[in-house]
Amino acid sequence: PTGLLSDTLGRPLRDLRISVTDRCNFRCNYCMPSEVFDKNYAFLPQNSLLSFEEITRLAKIFVAHGVEKIRLTGGEPLLRKNLEVLIGMLARLQTPAGKPLDITLTTNGSLLAKKARSLKDAGLQRVTVSLDALDDAIFRGMNDVDFPVADVLRGIEVAQQVGLAPVKINMVVKRCTNDGEILPLARHFRHSGAVLRFIEYMDVGATNGWRMDEVLPSSQVIERLRAEFPLAAIDPNYSGETAERWRYLDGGGEIGVISSVTQAFCGECNRARLSTEGKLFLCLFASQGHDLRALLRGNYADAQIAAAIGPIWQARSDRYSEIRAALPPDAGPAGGAKRVEMSYIGG
Ligand code: GTP
Ligand code: 5AD
Ligand code: SF4
Ligand code: SF4
Repeated sequence: PTGLLSDTLGRPLRDLRISVTDRCNFRCNYCMPSEVFDKNYAFLPQNSLLSFEEITRLAKIFVAHGVEKIRLTGGEPLLRKNLEVLIGMLARLQTPAGKPLDITLTTNGSLLAKKARSLKDAGLQRVTVSLDALDDAIFRGMNDVDFPVADVLRGIEVAQQVGLAPVKINMVVKRCTNDGEILPLARHFRHSGAVLRFIEYMDVGATNGWRMDEVLPSSQVIERLRAEFPLAAIDPNYSGETAERWRYLDGGGEIGVISSVTQAFCGECNRARLSTEGKLFLCLFASQGHDLRALLRGNYADAQIAAAIGPIWQARSDRYSEIRAALPPDAGPAGGAKRVEMSYIGG
């Protein structure tokens, strides 16, 4: 065992988010705008992706350093061939205390109806599905590939049926684009067992043309919901949780708001991100990562790789969202450096 790590702000390392592909079959404007991610866009070549063996080897090292939760992301993770095999490999890892890991996945849901059963059988515990509208026309417009909402809703149902529970639903709220879908989505998922979460549109990456006036603060989301449904705040599930939780007083279940713009939550951020090609990023808004693939493909023992990762986390001081929040509202995204795209680093 390597002992537990703490960064310069006293934050432990608990959550590892692994991007398994930088590709996606959607072109959500806030993430992969089609003008940028067009047919000429250079996605990563196959040989630069970490293999399942390499991912599992790193995951094991991270688990020894204190990671308890692994989230597979992308891009769209279900586009990665044989992902079930990777899930099976990760599901066999254990924390130093002998507990199984929390293994989950963030998906756009387009392939979920087809894959939910095999993902569950492979050892996946739950899924988070991105869904920005219930209205078919708005949904097709936001994914920008004319993908029908009914197929995603079907994927969510199948995920629930096979026990990938609780299913979480992530809605990125953009003012004037889909804020009219807040109530319809809330009505749809009340009493369903799924947990709907509203995410403030973030200035992540360098291509989405983010502007503060397109952010609808979570406080206003809650206000709109409260006008129709009585709500009460509930305690976090764990320290460092991204979502602030609320429950419907009539027993309709729970919802969450993720307010990274108006109420930054860097103070307890315990998340590390591993990019598709094996770079370790310490913040969603970082512009540079630490190349772990070079270590994997060099002649290093696990103990040496573990010894390299420790000091990287210990030197971490990232708190981007808090820094941006301290700027004037019309300042635009902070940090001059070219920030990496979320599809590459992993949501
Ligand atoms: P669970 O609570 O385990 O379900 O996971 P989670 O809250 O980490 O969920 P999820 O991965 O669905 O994260 C929800 C969204 O919050 C992401 O898609 C991002 O938009 C945002 N988010 C997650 N982590 C961070 C972070 O470290 N910083 C910022 N600024 N936003 C984040
Ligand atoms: N702001 C907020 N959330 C975003 N996501 C992607 N880009 C952004 C952004 N700019 C969300 C997706 C998905 C998760 C991976 O991150 O909708 O739920
Ligand atoms: Fe694809 Fe998700 Fe990005 Fe949309 S938000 S383009 S579904 S990776
Ligand atoms: Fe963590 Fe960076 Fe997000 Fe802050 S902005 S919560 S430090 S990933």
